[in-house]
Amino acid sequence: MRVFENLLVTGGSGFIGSNFIRYVFEKTDFAGRIINLDALTYAGNPASLERVAAKMGDRYVFVHGDIRDSACIARVFDEYAVDSVCHFAAESHVDRSIVAPDDFIQTNFVGTFNLVQAAKMRMDRITLFHHVSTDEVYGSLGDTGYFTEETPYDPHSPYSASKASSDHIVRAYHDTYGLPITISNCSNNYGPYQFPEKLVPLVILNATEGKPLPVYGEGLNVRDWLHVEDHCSAIWKIMQEAAFGQTYVVGGRCELTNIDVVKRLCAIVDRLAPPLPSGAPRETLITYVKDRLGHDHRYAIDCTRLERELGWKQTETAESGFEKTVRWYLENTGWVEGVRTGAYRQWIEKNYEHR
Ligand code: NAD
Ligand code: DAU
Repeated sequence: MRVFENLLVTGGSGFIGSNFIRYVFEKTDFAGRIINLDALTYAGNPASLERVAAKMGDRYVFVHGDIRDSACIARVFDEYAVDSVCHFAAESHVDRSIVAPDDFIQTNFVGTFNLVQAAKMRMDRITLFHHVSTDEVYGSLGDTGYFTEETPYDPHSPYSASKASSDHIVRAYHDTYGLPITISNCSNNYGPYQFPEKLVPLVILNATEGKPLPVYGEGLNVRDWLHVEDHCSAIWKIMQEAAFGQTYVVGGRCELTNIDVVKRLCAIVDRLAPPLPSGAPRETLITYVKDRLGHDHRYAIDCTRLERELGWKQTETAESGFEKTVRWYLENTGWVEGVRTGAYRQWIEKNYEHR
């Protein structure tokens, strides 16, 4: 087991990063300090960690900074004596990468390069650099087969290409300089604190409010769904136990077509939320819209290596995880309102200096 004293988490105010920080403090025996370096883009929201910040005192430090800025990274590494890194910060939304790819290259590739370079310059005290990546680097599957750690890279979108490049630079720093790295490539996450541009929270909130539910193409693309807390437990296990240089794919063994996901969520919202004024079931809100450009057909992960070598197991099924997630969005109206109305941005403007 590895011991981390000053763990730098990049992108800790985003969806998975904030869940990870909460997971590490609440569900592991981690006794050190977490430094969350986040630029607070539209996807970063300090409200997601409000309770953690209040409870953890000096063991949680927030730094408003940008991984595109190498001087900022150097300051953070030195001021907080960083000895380990879990790197989440990224532009994460495929549709945005199709419209405006620049930030994806700058943050996902150049930002990752800046981080491994800073870690390499302090190699004497860096115990681990964990890079959080995606299954999208492997491209698209036909109707059969699975992604494994041996699947060749074949990214299609600007997002997945930028993440693939970031994986390569992280691995290159291990192979060339001996930087102690691990990498995880995970499938689609869902759960609390996800920004409602992604399919699951978008559908939950629109269905609750009686708004159209946009389904791309025929809704037959397949994704492999994993509850975010199961992703966090996988990352922590890999950080603790994986050999340096190792990659693990992480997935939910839960392949669903998009239309199936939307219908399942509609049924849960119908059961848990007040009925629509018309009394119609939420499924009637489904609206088929123009397909995503270059839309990958199917992702599916075979995570046998992670299960066999590290003994990782997921705890949620789609039934339990989707239900918990719908309940979370219905109950956490303050967070949802802040994000829906943009009030969280005004709070950030007031409380953090902008570059
Ligand atoms: P997110 O968009 O919710 O959060 C990204 C966070 O990074 C935000 O807090 C944002 O402010 C921050 N950030 C963006 N640019 C930055 C910069 N230049 N400097 C510092 N901080 C910056 O993303 P997410 O869904 O939580 O994904 C986190 C990581 O996990 C990403 O690397 C993503 O590729 C990967 N991943 C996501 C999924 C998924 O289903 N969401 C699945 C597999 C892998
Ligand atoms: O596979 C892991 C990836 O999962 C992560 O690397 C990405 O960061 C994350 O955003 C996610 O990418 P997807 O593109 O799969 O997620 P998204 O929620 O955007 O879309 C899921 C599927 O639903 C996809 O096939 C597109 C479709 N979709 C999406 C939206 C937003 C719709 O049909 N309608 C929508 O409105």
